[in-house]
Amino acid sequence: MRSKTGAKAHSAEAGEVSDLSRQLLQAQEEERRRITRELHGQKARIQESLALLDRTIDGLRRTIARLSPRVLEELGLITAIRKQAQLLARHTGIHSQLELPEDIGELDSDVQVVVYRSVQEALSNVAKHSHASNFKVKLTFNSSKLALEVEDDGIGFSPRTAQDRGFGLKGMRERATALGGSMNIRSNPGKGTRVRIVFQLEDHGSRSGTGKPLRRASAA
Ligand SMILES: Nc1ncnc2c1ncn2[C@@H]1O[C@H](COP(=O)(O)OP(=O)(O)OP(=O)(O)O)[C@@H](O)[C@H]1O
Ligand SMILES: [Mg+2]
Repeated sequence: MRSKTGAKAHSAEAGEVSDLSRQLLQAQEEERRRITRELHGQKARIQESLALLDRTIDGLRRTIARLSPRVLEELGLITAIRKQAQLLARHTGIHSQLELPEDIGELDSDVQVVVYRSVQEALSNVAKHSHASNFKVKLTFNSSKLALEVEDDGIGFSPRTAQDRGFGLKGMRERATALGGSMNIRSNPGKGTRVRIVFQLEDHGSRSGTGKPLRRASAA
């Protein structure tokens, strides 16, 4: 049998142990809450980073889609131009008119890329600057000449003073002349705008004077 003092000491010890275990439990509980808070914070930061990544990837995809001529391989030039015009009309409400050949035969693929890029840039200018009600994309094509015209009935501009404003028209001219073509802008303030690109072609749609072998264009 234990003595009374022994029993007292024992219950004091037991009290201390239960105090300690209570403190331990509280500390564990507090630690658990802290970790949960931290995980929530981390989760929110990870979600933010993922959302940012998604936006970056989306932007990148759009840029690549604009840069890549894959769309030409997949759709063919005529359908790709039609799509661009439809997109512009849908997004801006500007009425579109298209005059496109059924078929472009074996048109040199570099020329196709320049024509497609030019359509993209000219239509983006129509959307950004023209305030037009109507635009027209016209492509004429025969064995000796290809001409692209993008025309709008908007506010127009003075081509000389607009030279330094952006890179779009400059790039368009550079790409056309690099392949032996030419570009011409007809525009006046208040009188609409017409951008025209012309390539002289040899037989069957190859560029003149390049001596480049013909490459088969994808079906339109
Ligand atoms: N269809 C248009 N109608 C009215 N103004 C135009 C039209 N196209 C071009 N412009 C004028 O010519 C300027 C130069 O056009 P450009 O495409 O070279 O540059 P940008 O569109 O301003 O910029 P970027 O093409 O580099 O994004 C434009 O800023 C605008 O003032
Ligand atoms: Mg532009």
